[in-house]
Amino acid sequence: MKKGLLIALLTPFIGFAQQPELIPAPQKMEATGKSFVWKQGMSFYCPPAFENTPCKLTIWGLVHIYKSANAKKANVVVTALPKPRGYHSEYYKLSITPKQIRIAAYTDTGVFRACMTLLQMLPADYVQTKQTGFPLPCVNIEDRPAFNYRGLHLDVCRHFFPVSFIKRYIDDMALFKYNVFHWHLTEDQGWRIEIKKYPKLTEVGAWRNGSQKGRYAEHRFDSLRYGGFYTQEEVKEIVEYARQRYITVIPEIEMPGHSLAALAAYPQLSCTGGPFEVAKGWGVFDDVYCAGNDTTLNFLKDVLSEVLTLFPSKYIHIGGDECPKTRWKICPKCQNRMKLEGLKDEHELQSWFVQHIEKWLNEKGRSIIGWDEILEGGLAPNATVMSWRGTAGGEEAAKQGHNVIMTPGKPCYFDHYQSKDSTEPIAIGGYNPLQAVYDYSPVPTSLGDLSTHVLGAQGNVWTEYMETEGHVEYMVWPRAAALAEALWTGTGRDYQKFLKNLPSTMKQLETRGVNHARHFSKKP
Ligand code: ACM
Ligand code: ZN
Repeated sequence: MKKGLLIALLTPFIGFAQQPELIPAPQKMEATGKSFVWKQGMSFYCPPAFENTPCKLTIWGLVHIYKSANAKKANVVVTALPKPRGYHSEYYKLSITPKQIRIAAYTDTGVFRACMTLLQMLPADYVQTKQTGFPLPCVNIEDRPAFNYRGLHLDVCRHFFPVSFIKRYIDDMALFKYNVFHWHLTEDQGWRIEIKKYPKLTEVGAWRNGSQKGRYAEHRFDSLRYGGFYTQEEVKEIVEYARQRYITVIPEIEMPGHSLAALAAYPQLSCTGGPFEVAKGWGVFDDVYCAGNDTTLNFLKDVLSEVLTLFPSKYIHIGGDECPKTRWKICPKCQNRMKLEGLKDEHELQSWFVQHIEKWLNEKGRSIIGWDEILEGGLAPNATVMSWRGTAGGEEAAKQGHNVIMTPGKPCYFDHYQSKDSTEPIAIGGYNPLQAVYDYSPVPTSLGDLSTHVLGAQGNVWTEYMETEGHVEYMVWPRAAALAEALWTGTGRDYQKFLKNLPSTMKQLETRGVNHARHFSKKP
């Protein structure tokens, strides 16, 4: 008998150092060659330090185990590590021996990240089939993220997606250890969050009517009233749902541009007084909030007051991108503001506007994030910059001592094509394949010691061309898995191993009914 065949026959009995297929790959992982037999009805011990959060292992009905008071005998044991100076809240150790699964962490967040690793080690259809008696490879994993900001964004304005979808999106993010959901809630084409003081924002601003001309004539919602919004109760539900998955939700309330839906509802907030319609096509529109009108600023503060009660996040995203100055240049109120404040041009007027809102939010204990246009005319003193027009804005902001989140169009925009296949569904143009996302390193080499200002990066999902849930998921996965590994694993990652691990992690999405692209499984 050939030696190879003998080994193959004996392998099930002697055990083998099988590497679990994990994305993002852990910082350190060794397989011992043994296995732990997973059974229903296992016992679980969690120390008091971690008890007051929902049991992470029961998320998605994952584990049907009961609590046990006895740490020594339990099948799954969680340990709270003493916190040294400079500890990382997401750090965890996961050790699986033939007798026990052990998770050790400093915080609840670390325990949760460990549980997501464990979840990826179970059969993809485990939750559905509740199978029992299967082996888990014994491993010693020690893990923590390379970057502290690992974001995924969703534009719910160009197309609207219901609460059920947002929750699924958050589940998907959790599985890949994302920690920030950037929720783009207001736009020219729709205002999507209930604001009690201004009911017309959603009565009028959440809906668009009539036919769409030109390039978008085939739009499915032609001639229909299209839209939707989230009630404040639904927003709270989503924020809590994300919190339980150790994901922070950062809302984006766009200003001063991309505000046509709000102006359709309240035209007095504009320079001209309107009237306006909620935008039916895509693009950038000249009608924006009037920067010279105190009523407009008070409106925004009222809106933000309600937003602050719903979102506990440190950061509030105030947009700031793509704001044409066309109206401001001829608006007597805007020109008067410039004169009074000694502003030399309309870029400085935008900077004044953003700084005014920043100061107000800072007084409420929050910080702003803005797109990189907020550099123009002078950066608000405490702002974090989201660099989307390449990385130059981020580099400049870091040089000015500001924190930065990198989202350069290539490779962080998941609305670009991921394949050159002619059968690819319509996308916004541009080519951003899986490997380009995987290879992304958010810290520009030019930054040197300033690199600590780069908090991390984010995948952006603008939905002009994504009408359905399945299409959003197709554009997001697996590219968001590639970005997750770039941000969590960092320098030690390996694209070939990632490709090998993709099919089983994508299967985890499939079994929950989540769609994904499949280009990675084709030979080039
Ligand atoms: C953006 O893509 N306009 C931030
Ligand atoms: Zn004006």
